[in-house]
Amino acid sequence: MKVGIIFGTRPEAIKIAPVYKELKNNNIEVKAIVTGQHQEMLYQVLDLFKITPDYDLKIMKNGQTLSELTGKLVQQLDIILKKEKFDYILVQGDTTSAFTGALVAFYNQIPIGHIEAGLRTGNIYSPFPEEANRKLIGTITDIHFAPTERNVDNLLRENYPKEKILKVGNTVIDALLWIKENKVKNIENIKKKYGVEDKKYILLTLHRRENWGKPMENIFEAIRNYLEKNKELYLVFPMHLNPLVREIANNKLEGFDRKILLEPLDYLEFIAILDGAHYIMTDSGGIQEEAPTLGKPTLVLRDTTERPEAIEAGTAKLVGTEYDSIVKYMTLLEGELYKEMSQKNNPYGDGKTSKKISDYFLRRI
Ligand code: UD1
Ligand code: UDP
Repeated sequence: MKVGIIFGTRPEAIKIAPVYKELKNNNIEVKAIVTGQHQEMLYQVLDLFKITPDYDLKIMKNGQTLSELTGKLVQQLDIILKKEKFDYILVQGDTTSAFTGALVAFYNQIPIGHIEAGLRTGNIYSPFPEEANRKLIGTITDIHFAPTERNVDNLLRENYPKEKILKVGNTVIDALLWIKENKVKNIENIKKKYGVEDKKYILLTLHRRENWGKPMENIFEAIRNYLEKNKELYLVFPMHLNPLVREIANNKLEGFDRKILLEPLDYLEFIAILDGAHYIMTDSGGIQEEAPTLGKPTLVLRDTTERPEAIEAGTAKLVGTEYDSIVKYMTLLEGELYKEMSQKNNPYGDGKTSKKISDYFLRRI
């Protein structure tokens, strides 16, 4: 059995790392094919988990369009898949790397395993282009590794055969628990390194394409105006490397003092900063999955979510991107709501997801 894993962005690397290691530990031949859709943000994760890519296409170019990225990836991945003769290709989630990886596997008639299958918002434009990517991957997937019961139901509703869907949890919990178990000492030192150990702070992350422009401006204006009146709270913002995100952030936060703007943190550092936060504001997908494990209230700065489990578990609220709604929820978190949302309640798995995925391949051998 020879498995190729195709991935290219930060969150994919975090969620692939436990699977890659588990397959290797079980003596399954596995190759890491990195597209390099992300560069610095990807290598941070590869270094932490000590993964050396077998291929690295180094595809990132500032500001390239989705079509350019897709076109280049399809051509270059095809050469690798023709050469290597994999028995299975694994992709994770819904990025352009995952979509093109699956497409090229399909063109080469290699069966596809889709990790984090079955997430849906029901709105093809939100998140964009991820909702379309994951649906397109689903149509050509051989085995769907779905994180939750709801994800399984989504796939059954789309008429995928029951025996091709495995509920396994989300590998992000495997990665998170590994950090929590192996790196406890580092966590306190990292808080000191960034000077946040005795600060009450909101942790913010933003990057979604559908939030570029006006929605992102609303978010920064609302947070800034709220914080101008709430002087005990700081804002910690590890900035995505996308220049579009940075420009809006720098512009809207100029002159505001209680902010700590950081470069993208490596995963260990990010978990430490997440662990110390008062609460989280984010449009990220992965952070919605991590926050409930740490019992951190999360305001989701999007109009839709494919992760309603955290909302049902009570740890997250879907706030949207309108100024008034953002200020309303920040104000509500001053009261009873904060306690209600701080319960540790993790609907995304038990940290054994990568083992379940690896067991599937062992059974196939
Ligand atoms: C991508 C994924 C998104 C995922 C996100 C995780 C697609 C279409 N989007 O969005 O699904 O949620 O990653 O973060 O697949 N950049 C750097 N260095 C880096 C990474 C990014 O400079 O290491 C800059 C580049 O200017 C790049 C831009 O960020 O052009 C945007 O990167 P891109 O991968 O196109 O989109 P993301 O918003 O990161
Ligand atoms: N993350 C990180 N460093 C940061 C910000 C986020 O390691 O500075 C991690 C975070 O813990 C989560 C993942 O990156 O596991 C989320 O990535 P992102 O928000 O870029 O993508 P999404 O999950 O929305 O696809």
